[in-house]
Amino acid sequence: MDNKTLNRKELINAYLEFFKSKKHKKIPSAPLTPEKDPTVLFTTAGMHPLVPYLLGQEHPLGKRIVSLQRCIRTTDIDNVGDKSHHTFFEMLGNWSLGDYWKKEAISWSLEFLTEILKLDINRISITCFKGEGSVPKDEESARIWMSLGIPKERIVFLGKKENWWGPAGKTGPCGPDTEIFYWAGKENPPKRFNPKDTRWVEIWNDVFMEYEKNIKGEYNPLKQKNVDTGMGLERTLAVVNKIEDNYLTETFLPIIKKIEKVSKKDYKESEEIKKTMRIIADHIKASIFIVSEGVYPSNTERGYVLRRLIRRLTKYAKINLSLEGTNFIREIAEPVFEIYGDSCEELKKDKQKILKIIEEEKIKFDKTIQKGLKILEKKLKEDKVITCKDIFLLYQSYGFPLELTEEISKEKNIQIDKEGFQNELKKHQELSQISCKDKFKSGLADCSERTIKLHTLTHLLNESLRKVLDKNIKQKGSNITPERLRFDFNFNRKLSEEEIKKVEDFVNKKILEGISVKKEKMLLKKAIKIGAQAEFGTRYPEVVDVYSIGSFSKEICSGPHVKNTKEIGRFKILKEESVASGIRRIKATID
Ligand code: SER
Repeated sequence: MDNKTLNRKELINAYLEFFKSKKHKKIPSAPLTPEKDPTVLFTTAGMHPLVPYLLGQEHPLGKRIVSLQRCIRTTDIDNVGDKSHHTFFEMLGNWSLGDYWKKEAISWSLEFLTEILKLDINRISITCFKGEGSVPKDEESARIWMSLGIPKERIVFLGKKENWWGPAGKTGPCGPDTEIFYWAGKENPPKRFNPKDTRWVEIWNDVFMEYEKNIKGEYNPLKQKNVDTGMGLERTLAVVNKIEDNYLTETFLPIIKKIEKVSKKDYKESEEIKKTMRIIADHIKASIFIVSEGVYPSNTERGYVLRRLIRRLTKYAKINLSLEGTNFIREIAEPVFEIYGDSCEELKKDKQKILKIIEEEKIKFDKTIQKGLKILEKKLKEDKVITCKDIFLLYQSYGFPLELTEEISKEKNIQIDKEGFQNELKKHQELSQISCKDKFKSGLADCSERTIKLHTLTHLLNESLRKVLDKNIKQKGSNITPERLRFDFNFNRKLSEEEIKKVEDFVNKKILEGISVKKEKMLLKKAIKIGAQAEFGTRYPEVVDVYSIGSFSKEICSGPHVKNTKEIGRFKILKEESVASGIRRIKATID
């Protein structure tokens, strides 16, 4: 392969084909908003859709899986701006679900890098797990790497902080990992590997998932030993093409070029401009993908992340590039549709709708900024002073960015208390972190008895809504914790009390009928043909599991479920509300 001109599509194809040749079956990218894992807001790695199978359930496609997964990681949203962090990225991965183990995983990783991508083995370094707690040092992986030609001084053992992956949420599969680094420096690589030298770029992670963390924080061996690997597409593309900055690879460059055009500024002008353009490019891309999955800007959970992304990009565009209004949004969004349109149908299909939602949110933010400006100017004029509490209020209630307060105050020669503001902010963040931890106490990933019951109940509710209210109702989202289920569906108005009662009675009747629940593996085509419900926007593999509740309900789903509806208990609707225009939400539980 000509590694000078390797493009995104070629890299993806090469990876998928290589693992297909090693008997892996491809699964499509799962949604960014994981339906079955309420311990996380977004899909952060390729393993999310595989959690039930990593825990031991049989996968309809077998024990070897390969995929390209779209991911969102928001934990380091504030680090976006350097040359390698993104909130949205794509991950190539291969999995062994209780099949092959370290020797195959490691040798295939190296074979792909050196034989297919033609990367130089002399520029590769490795980290392995050094052992901690009851889990021993991973000598086996190091031995395998050495047997394949990686010298001892290029292997470093590190602790849990670096060489342990998962669980993604609070509970679930996890284990030690071995990470592959590639020398991206212009000079020749040093003989000895120093993981702190940032010219060594991490490109691939092979995780040996043989443990499950439970709700008490204990690590227990899983029924089966799994391999979970993840290769960062943007980073790999950068190192293969010898590009030092991920934002100059084809996954970002066209967006950066458009930002340069609309702002009439040069990316290379200064570090500050580079940072600004990277943030805008990353955030517009992530926002487009999040909106494409039916998320609307709001003040909670995913909607809040989306709101934050749109506001941050607005802020940077306004302050550092003097970009106002919404026209520029359309221009800089265009390359995102061009880069990903072929591999993501929803983007193409819903382009106008997606752009409208982002623009509306931007207009809303512009208005709050105007309001905040008036308040700030009044304060500056009348009181001639602005306290840290004022800055915080502007920030918290009007989303008014600190930088704007700072800039306007500076024009009037008024000092502001930035440190006081940061302290207020910290206090507030600590409080919201505590409430967030409470909210995501557990979830389907731990497969608790209540969660499983609520899961089957969700299928009953889905079908009952169609029977009682309207046959055109479709599921638009779902989230299950042991405490309650949450179910979103399309419906244009509020439900009356009688309707709520009717739905409750209908579902309870079905529960009492004691209907058995059955799982059947079949071709996706057949599942659709027999009328199994499928989630809109989800791309399924060729072979799927279909769960039937007698002849009442059929859904494509990965489970798990109860064996009989009578196990569920009494169904009760707690709340019915609107979440977006035309979308209603039911929260319900069992006694
Ligand atoms: N889950 C691991 C990671 O995200 C491997 O894909 O790094």
